[in-house]
Amino acid sequence: MKLNVAVQMDPIGRIKIQGDSTFALLLEAQKRGHTLSYYTPDRLSLHGRDLVAPIQRLTVRDQAGDHFTLGEPRREALQSFDVVLLRQDPPFDLAYITSTHLLERIHPQTLVVNDPASVRNAPEKLFVMDFPQLMPPTLISRDLEEINAFRARYGAVVMKPLHGFGGAAVFRIAPQDMNFGSLFDMFAVTFREPWVIQQFIPEVKEGDKRIILVDGTFAGAVNRVPAADDLRSNMVRGGAACATELTPRESEICATLGPVLRQRGLIFVGIDVINGSLTEINVTSPTGIRAIARLGGPDTAGMIWDAIEKKRGIWSDRRPVMAWHSNRGTEISAAWLPWGRPTQTHCDMEGRVYARHAQSRLSPERLVMAKIAPFHHPKAASTDAVDQFQVPGGAIWRYRVPQTWTSRSIIELMPAKNGSQRTRQA
Ligand SMILES: Nc1ncnc2c1ncn2[C@@H]1O[C@H](COP(=O)(O)OP(=O)(O)O)[C@@H](O)[C@H]1O
Ligand SMILES: [Mg+2]
Repeated sequence: MKLNVAVQMDPIGRIKIQGDSTFALLLEAQKRGHTLSYYTPDRLSLHGRDLVAPIQRLTVRDQAGDHFTLGEPRREALQSFDVVLLRQDPPFDLAYITSTHLLERIHPQTLVVNDPASVRNAPEKLFVMDFPQLMPPTLISRDLEEINAFRARYGAVVMKPLHGFGGAAVFRIAPQDMNFGSLFDMFAVTFREPWVIQQFIPEVKEGDKRIILVDGTFAGAVNRVPAADDLRSNMVRGGAACATELTPRESEICATLGPVLRQRGLIFVGIDVINGSLTEINVTSPTGIRAIARLGGPDTAGMIWDAIEKKRGIWSDRRPVMAWHSNRGTEISAAWLPWGRPTQTHCDMEGRVYARHAQSRLSPERLVMAKIAPFHHPKAASTDAVDQFQVPGGAIWRYRVPQTWTSRSIIELMPAKNGSQRTRQA
């Protein structure tokens, strides 16, 4: 079964495909055989109960200057789609908020990614304040007295608009900064909302890490190092993308956020972490997919579509996946990998399976695929492993899994007593 997908995005003719995550999502969807349609947010209308737009069939090509073809516009109700990708860029203003109100009317019958109500309720620099233990000291205010007290306590700070994006109007203010008064006045007339005043993190020169979580699980990361003469790491501001891996602290941040994001229906999220401190949870239209792929990291677009297909109940209908399981003494675990054959795998003392993907520069230790509890399914039917990897203290067998399988089926892979591998379809 294929999905009928509509994307709500800014004019597709103007995007730079090399860095555009929406485009990466469209390429992947098309590769999987899903049907793509396109409209811009300004063309959304609510007529009675029908949410309609002049929708155009879309095909995409990874070719700069010739990256798309659009069909004739046809007035269609969005209710007739399986999935709508909400992918317009900020500003997160009343137009954006209205668009979430409109899309909320069709969700979840039509799966809107991300959940429009959750997008509305999670302004990126405010939502993050739910996790003060993960953040640098931060004040949301436009009150001079509060701001002065905060500066007196924390020294150098960063001042930025609450709904800013792409590094716009981010200032570092030194403890005795002579520009502060003027900057305060300028912010006061320019931004009606409170601002973010945050302790300055000097380690930002080492980079601001963008970490992608898919349905609450770590999917990939890229470090963005600011230009020598800029505070801002954003790639649109000249930040350089570098391959990276997660520190234990960052894994802990992902583990803390994961359940909350999943519960809110925030399938595709990009968080920003500077020196182990969380500064932003991007939910409107996060980026990073293409930079991560270019640096040899995981296929985060594939993982996002896996998550969407799973939610639409068609995941098992997809291309064959490979499954691995390992034994270590009596402990048996299985893992499934969406990225094809790993070049290196190993299994740790707890039976976790680690794999290093062919193009990945991440160390196997950092790439935790899955830990699936020991499985002992008595009714397994046998099938042959494609190949086998030796790992310290055991082995990992690789299977080609039938297309009809769900991840549950893979969990139920089991070894037979004689050492030949057996499986059972769930
Ligand atoms: N507290 C801080 N300390 C040091 N640098 C910061 C801080 N906050 C932001 N920056 C720099 O400014 C950039 C943009 O800030 P961010 O809060 O991510 O807003 P935006 O939504 O514009 O990306 C960051 O990538 C980082 O380089
Ligand atoms: Mg940012």
